[in-house]
Amino acid sequence: MSVANRNYKREGIRNFKKFINLTQTFFLSSVGLDIIEGRRLGVHLWDVETEDKYIDCFCSAGSFNVGRRNPEIVNVLEDALESWDMGDYLFPSGPKVALAEKLVAVAPPGLQHVMFCVGGGEANDSALKMARGITGRQEVISLAKAYHGHTGFALSAIGKPIYRDFFEPLLEGFTQEPVINDLETVDRLAGNDTAAIILELVQGESGIFCATQEFVEGLRRICDERGITLIFDEVQTGLGRTGKMFCCQHYDVEPDIMTVAKSLSGSLYPISAVIYNQRIRDFMEENPEVMVSTSGGSDLGCIVGSASLDYLVKNNIPEHAAQMGDYIGDAIVELSRKHEGLIKEVRRKGLMIGLEYTHDFMGPLMSLFLGKNGVMAFFSSNNLKVMRLMPPIVITRQEAEQLIMALDRSMASAKRASQLVEFADDLPLVGRIIGIPEIQIFAIMVAKTLRKIIPKK
Ligand SMILES: Cc1ncc(COP(=O)(O)O)c(C=O)c1O
Repeated sequence: MSVANRNYKREGIRNFKKFINLTQTFFLSSVGLDIIEGRRLGVHLWDVETEDKYIDCFCSAGSFNVGRRNPEIVNVLEDALESWDMGDYLFPSGPKVALAEKLVAVAPPGLQHVMFCVGGGEANDSALKMARGITGRQEVISLAKAYHGHTGFALSAIGKPIYRDFFEPLLEGFTQEPVINDLETVDRLAGNDTAAIILELVQGESGIFCATQEFVEGLRRICDERGITLIFDEVQTGLGRTGKMFCCQHYDVEPDIMTVAKSLSGSLYPISAVIYNQRIRDFMEENPEVMVSTSGGSDLGCIVGSASLDYLVKNNIPEHAAQMGDYIGDAIVELSRKHEGLIKEVRRKGLMIGLEYTHDFMGPLMSLFLGKNGVMAFFSSNNLKVMRLMPPIVITRQEAEQLIMALDRSMASAKRASQLVEFADDLPLVGRIIGIPEIQIFAIMVAKTLRKIIPKK
């Protein structure tokens, strides 16, 4: 470990706290993952100072499907830098056309048109605007616990008050009442004023809740009967993550609009897309000037997006994700039996795997122990019990074995630690205090600091 790297890290964290975000550094440090990313390759990243190596199971919330710094895609970008730049959004270009053609080739057959944006929120904003534009209606139904991004329309569709409350009033006409798979409530709410129903087929941010076949088919039927636009947000589920190129292909149900972002970037250059059908196209053609994104569909972004799609298709990565999802998911179910009492539920589709622990304190504890065993995974800040495991879907069998081994060891440590906490929980006052999440995280920090202060024998 070099002094230069140590200083770089110290200064980096200090200045991040000062200029960007104090709480985030506190949170990361509380679970021993106060790293600064150094080397990154495939499923791994290394801390710049300690050079500790981690399997990245967070992946910027599922953004690195093709792996970090995938050499093939890095080469394409390096070559592209010789002659391309962002490009002017106004002009047609080869890279824009190539990526659009590739996207519609892998998308459900009715989705033949593309608008490019930069991020997932912007793509969802555009999709919702298209739905209002084509229907001339105002109301939008999204789901409780939904996550669609922090831009205006997307934020209005988010189903978690914690993200919305400070910014009310948001856009009118949005409801997030139905929980996933509650078709009856959607049926009651969807009417002649409904412009769109938007959903994630697997709710990612809220902890991996999967839509049922019956629910998705029911939504399509309701939308067809009542002239409502059906939007699938495939920002996290798309591009192979769930074991098919797009999650909707598991259900064989086609939306009117689908949004894609995150991994279209090839982990290198942000870009997102809205892919839509002929009905929406009519509105877009009649009103060509109403939706524009200067940096969306940049030539460099499109070149990288094309290389990423080529990589996924050529190497049959969605199929590989299905196999690895089964392998890792089945092993976790086994581990939950072995370390009985630790895991309440395992929810999964492909390599979107959600663990729901039995106690709140288990999420932070598992992040801490997994970090010690070379795996980076986080509990949800809104639900400490829930942890998402979303490694790059190019993960090899050998890397998957390492991940499973790390989970096994971490669960054993968490089980031991939980016995202590449960004991404390039974003491009247202590029990009440340790129910508070901030106290739990604080206690973990104190324990870590003590471990550093108290000399080893
Ligand atoms: C399902 C889903 N939709 C939209 C977004 C927002 O994407 P972005 O952060 O690129 O705006 C996210 C981000 O995590 C997401 O998971």
